[in-house]
Amino acid sequence: MQRMFFFLSVLTVYTFLTFTVRFLVRKANEKIWKSKGIDRIAFFFPYFAFLAIGLIIGSATFGNRGMILLISFTMAAVTLIFSFAAIFSIPFTFLTLLLSRIAARLSPPVKSQTPNPAERRKVLKWMAASAPVIFLGTASKGFADSFGSVKIHQVPMYFSDLPSDLENFKILHLSDLHLGYYFNLDDLERLIARLRRYSFDLVLITGDLADDTKQLKDALNLIDQLPSSHGAFFSLGNHEHFRDLGFILKTVEKSPVRLLRDESTAIQHKSAAFTLIGIDDPVFMHRNISGFLRTSVKKAMNRKNEDAFKILMSHRPRALDVSAEFGIDLILAGHTHGGQVGINRRSLFESVNIEKYLWGKYAKGKSQLYTSSGVGHWFPFRLGCPAETPVLILKSKAIT
Ligand SMILES: [Fe+2]
Repeated sequence: MQRMFFFLSVLTVYTFLTFTVRFLVRKANEKIWKSKGIDRIAFFFPYFAFLAIGLIIGSATFGNRGMILLISFTMAAVTLIFSFAAIFSIPFTFLTLLLSRIAARLSPPVKSQTPNPAERRKVLKWMAASAPVIFLGTASKGFADSFGSVKIHQVPMYFSDLPSDLENFKILHLSDLHLGYYFNLDDLERLIARLRRYSFDLVLITGDLADDTKQLKDALNLIDQLPSSHGAFFSLGNHEHFRDLGFILKTVEKSPVRLLRDESTAIQHKSAAFTLIGIDDPVFMHRNISGFLRTSVKKAMNRKNEDAFKILMSHRPRALDVSAEFGIDLILAGHTHGGQVGINRRSLFESVNIEKYLWGKYAKGKSQLYTSSGVGHWFPFRLGCPAETPVLILKSKAIT
């Protein structure tokens, strides 16, 4: 009953949003609305959203979690993306129209020069109409780019006290695969084939591996095919808690990939020993995430190796806030998907600061963090923030 109420509320808000968007965009762009094609597309826009939500409810209610759910969710995502693009374009459209009116009033009487005022007004109206075109074009690019290939790239990380035998140690960082609709086993197989051209010392998976838990077993076996001298390790994300956690734990236990849940292990690499730590995810504890992460790291730490180089797997990048007090050298995190919108290899939402350390390298005290933008996602929109599998390369830095 509660679920149905939630769905109906979403349906109402969503449909209202699409009708409002259509009304406002029409008001703002009366000029381009004279085109019959645009008018027809816009007429069906709210009903398209209505159909998408209806299909989601229908397929979820009747237990169909396959292709229909994928199509309907994609339809709903597309209408949501386009609704927001249209909403963001409205102030720009009105601003251009306002500026054009002010310019028309302030401009001196025109004699015989060209362009004449009528021509100039026409140009300004078309300029105003270009705002939704630009926004909708950008939205389309973000939607298309979410289906782009995963970027494999090297990220050097510098440490002043790196044991010499860990120089050039290579860690393949896999995070947020969200195996299911937008990234499935076929995609993973293709990615593994690309990654098998390289060799790694360690493969670390920082949570949110499979939304469709039926794909988990095969995914873990595929990941095990990666050339890695010390194998693959996994730490939990919030989506593991959202799914059938008991089933996930059993599946990982039987797999060649080792789970570290508030646990650590010592790894010997040549003559250097380092500690690998994996912590659990706080799931919904928004207010005290730092407290949860601190307790988890404390529980996981292996006191026998206090002086060893320490690598932490944490789904949440905010582990950086508590890591320096435990002498953690390197943290690998995910969860944020980089906000899925980036500029110059940083998240566009970095300044909003809802979730800290959204994408890339960060440092606090002696601890360093790399937050991956993730391999997959559950919402099909990525702009300037491609899916990635970073390969972290440990390097020593001379103390100056
Ligand atoms: Fe997550």
